[in-house]
Amino acid sequence: MPASKSPAVLHPDLAEVLLTEGQIRARVKTLAQEIKAVYGDGEFTIISLINGAVMFTSDLMREIDNPVRLDCIRVSSYGTKTKSIGTPQIIHSLTLDIAKRDVLLIDDILDTGKTLKLVGDLVRDLKPASLRTCVLLDKKARREVEMEADFVGFEIPDKFVVGYGLDFAERYRNLPGIGVLKPEKQTTQAWASG
Ligand code: IMP
Ligand code: MG
Repeated sequence: MPASKSPAVLHPDLAEVLLTEGQIRARVKTLAQEIKAVYGDGEFTIISLINGAVMFTSDLMREIDNPVRLDCIRVSSYGTKTKSIGTPQIIHSLTLDIAKRDVLLIDDILDTGKTLKLVGDLVRDLKPASLRTCVLLDKKARREVEMEADFVGFEIPDKFVVGYGLDFAERYRNLPGIGVLKPEKQTTQAWASG
C-alpha cells in the first residue's frame, strides 16, 4: 500500500483514506477546466462557504485565470455532532454586491442539501445574473431536500469524513487528504480542555 493511502500516515484517528492529496489536486485541476468551459474568459464572483470550503476554494481559485471576486458566507456548523440537525443558520453574510453578477457558490460537501438550499435562496434574492454551485464532495445518499450541484469533484459514500477543510468539532481541517473518522473518535469526550 502506498504511504499516502495508509490511514495512519494521514492521521491515526482515521479508519480509511478516501482521497489522497494527489487525487484531490488532480481533480481540482480538471474541475477548474470544467468551470472554465462554462464561464469562458468572463469575470465571476466566488462565494465560499466557510470554514469548510477554505482549502478547496483557495486551490480551485489558483487553477482559474479568469478575473474573479471573492466573498465568504459563514453558516452554522454541526458543532460536535456528525449528523446535521435542524436548520442551518447564516452567521455572517456577504459584503460584496452581487446584483447582475455571475456567481459561483462553493462548498466542501453536499450532504442533506439544506445548507446549499439556504444559501442559494439568499443569493438568488440578491438578483445575480446567474448562479451556479460547486462542491468538492457529494454524499448523494443523504439528500433531504432537492438539490444538485452544477460542478461536483467526487461522489462519496455515506460516511463521516474529515480533512482538506472538513472538520469534526473544528479539528482535522488541516489534513492534506480526506479520510473517514474512526467511529470511536466521533466524540469530543476524550479531548483535554485547552
Ligand atoms: P448539508 O446542509 O446537510 O448539505 O451539510 C453541508 C455541511 O455539513 C457541509 O458544509 C459540511 O460543513 C457539513 N458536513 C456534511 N457532511 C460532512 C462530513 O462527512 N464531514 C464533515 N462535515 C460534513
Ligand atoms: Mg461546511
